[in-house]
Amino acid sequence: MNKSSAISERNPVRPRPMHMRRAGDAMPAHTPEPLLRPTPARPAPSFERDVMLGLTLRQKAIPATWLYDHRGSELFEQITRLDAYYPARNETRILEQCAAQIAEAAGPRAVVIELGSGSSRKTRLLLAALDTPQAYLPIDISEQFLAESVAELPSQFAGLRVLPIVADFTRIESLPELALIDGGACENGRRVVFFPGSTIGNFTPDEAIGLLKRVGQAVGPDALLVVGADTTQDPGVLLAAYDDRDGVTAAFNLNLLARINRELGADFSPTAFVHEARFNAEQQRVEMHLVSLYTQRVTVCGHPFQFAMGESIHTENSYKYSLLKFQHLAARAGWSHRQLWMDGQSRFAVHVLESSQAGALRERNVMIR
Ligand code: TRP
Repeated sequence: MNKSSAISERNPVRPRPMHMRRAGDAMPAHTPEPLLRPTPARPAPSFERDVMLGLTLRQKAIPATWLYDHRGSELFEQITRLDAYYPARNETRILEQCAAQIAEAAGPRAVVIELGSGSSRKTRLLLAALDTPQAYLPIDISEQFLAESVAELPSQFAGLRVLPIVADFTRIESLPELALIDGGACENGRRVVFFPGSTIGNFTPDEAIGLLKRVGQAVGPDALLVVGADTTQDPGVLLAAYDDRDGVTAAFNLNLLARINRELGADFSPTAFVHEARFNAEQQRVEMHLVSLYTQRVTVCGHPFQFAMGESIHTENSYKYSLLKFQHLAARAGWSHRQLWMDGQSRFAVHVLESSQAGALRERNVMIR
């Protein structure tokens, strides 16, 4: 079966500027390859458009992706080191335990694709367990943070090709660079999509299904998907994790206003808003808001926006999934359960899924046409 042609038909590789190396070029040892910048088919989401539109909604809201500029990525990395932020700690413990079994399922020469790689700290556990992994493609929206995070990897993992992609991973279907996992650049070896950190919870269930479907289509049949999903429902534990005493999460959330001021010439006063985490029991999600302390008017890109006292901008959701609920969601996206681990406190789960038969058939149909 030739998965490669299906992928390259959908994602033709566009001409690349001369200064960017192609994946086949020889690279000096111990250097990650240059950052790949996609040339997308449809226009990329724009910060300005998302903010301007989001501030006109009845419940003002800004997509969470924009939290992750360089400073935001640094602050999020600090969150993952907080005692109260159990997801990172518990997931790391799980991965320490189960990496060997994931490696067994993956087999030799695996190609690891990570969605929203951040610091790539947990990835090291996976890479170290894998049998001669051939390539690592971290996709992250924060260019400088991505470059810093992967700088050391080639020297730590001999023989591993590191191909960082600066992009919004939700647009995975339009990343021509993903064609690099195709025949020429990467030999056969299982495609392993690594999606830790409960990032899947930052999408609504419908968005999550759409995303996991597109991921399956982009990486082809016979892939593995390793996803971290938070299972916690205890409001006390949740609120402590999303509104820590040290104020790191507050700084992370408020950094969005500083970014809007800087990049869109706005006049948000950082002291006029406060961070708030709310548990929405009905939707089984934690919500992050920036709440206006008083009635005020803010100007963004020359347009005035009115805030009532107590009115908020909704900046993030973090959905919490029981094991069955998550398996059901994944199945609807074409991924079937293969393995599953939880931590000793039963707060977090690492699901290993594989493209289901239906997914593989769909892929073959694409071929025949
Ligand atoms: N994926 C992380 C989560 O849902 C993101 C996150 C953690 C986050 N803490 C946050 C997002 C605080 C916004 C604000 O747990």
